[in-house]
Amino acid sequence: KKVVLAYSGGLDTSVIVPWLKENYGCEVVCFTADVGQGLKELEGLEQKAKASGASQLVVKDLTEEFVKDYIFPCLRAGAIYERKYLLGTSMARPVIAKAMVDVAAEVGADAVAHGCTGKGNDQVRFELTFFSLNPELKVVAPWREWEIQGREDAIEYAKKHNVPVPVTKKSIYSRDRNLWHLSHEGDILEDPANEPKQDMYMISADPEDAPDEPEYIEIGIESGIPVSLNGKTLSPATLLSELNKIGGKHGIGRIDMVENRLVGMKSRGVYETPGGTVLFKACQELESLTLDRETIQVKDSLALKYAEMVYAGRWFDPLRESMDAFMEKITEKTTGSVRLKLYKGSVNVTARQSPFSLYRQDISSFEGSEIYNQADAAGFIRLYGLPMRVRAMLDKGI
Ligand code: ARG
Ligand code: SIN
Repeated sequence: KKVVLAYSGGLDTSVIVPWLKENYGCEVVCFTADVGQGLKELEGLEQKAKASGASQLVVKDLTEEFVKDYIFPCLRAGAIYERKYLLGTSMARPVIAKAMVDVAAEVGADAVAHGCTGKGNDQVRFELTFFSLNPELKVVAPWREWEIQGREDAIEYAKKHNVPVPVTKKSIYSRDRNLWHLSHEGDILEDPANEPKQDMYMISADPEDAPDEPEYIEIGIESGIPVSLNGKTLSPATLLSELNKIGGKHGIGRIDMVENRLVGMKSRGVYETPGGTVLFKACQELESLTLDRETIQVKDSLALKYAEMVYAGRWFDPLRESMDAFMEKITEKTTGSVRLKLYKGSVNVTARQSPFSLYRQDISSFEGSEIYNQADAAGFIRLYGLPMRVRAMLDKGI
């Protein structure tokens, strides 16, 4: 019996290794995905995993796949959960869980395990992905089974099992970081009336301390997908990390919200999504040139459902995949560029252009035009308003 464990090297997952061996009598293969959480977290990880009792550590670099196949489709769809959340953690779980399914096949494991608590969304996202990609894998979620309650219990368990306690000091916040975002939950944030402390933020400057000079950037977009920065074509992950630096410097993309978790409870989270916030602005703006009114309405209404499905862990659901096919088709001609001005926490559009722009200056201009005859408007308004006139006639007994 062999289990693949989603492993971070922190206290919790370090304790899960001996716990799995003790309670399931299985060999433990640790798996760590690089989704852009910062390479520091990967240093010395193999030794650590083995010191905890793992037979091996498998590390996979998923950064480009994560950005290209998960983040950019959500961006193209305009997926935002509950008006604010740009889904950073939600998008990372399926790419990690999919890689775990692959690793399980590679090492011949019959089970997978994760360190998510029984109170959150992440457990659902991992497990729905496992179900969709390999329904035969057994799933173990220690947090839903064991007696370990807090940090003290975990340290005691580690000592009793001769497992070194990771020296990494636990932050007071529960954080999750990847190339798209950094989330903060817990501690003083648990009271929604508390303002976050400035020293909590890690990847964005306080807007008040951001440069006094605005910075202009230009994002190139092809068929709804960002491809270049200031005229330079970049790979998805490189483009995003460049924008994180620039956006972070100008204090862009801080979001403080109370959200509804899938398991029913409300939770307060603070997110830093600097590059993502810039990209959302750019993609949305270009659509104002390339999509017409009704198309934008339909796309935006589907985006709500799309976001809900991603949040709920239903990435590999035919409904999400079909909506994605719709998003791909509808943004086929959303190609062009958007210029943005970044300044002290704000990102504003200053210019947009597209070879497929539906905007025509010769029609829209206040100067005279051939195609648009103002006299046509009179008949249009009479027929468009006919139901209103009929109702008013009824009211007045005409
Ligand atoms: N509430 C956010 C979500 O459900 C962020 C979760 C952060 N996850 C974590 N393991 N700290 O997507
Ligand atoms: C967890 O409970 O494991 C993290 C938070 C979440 O999944 O929403």
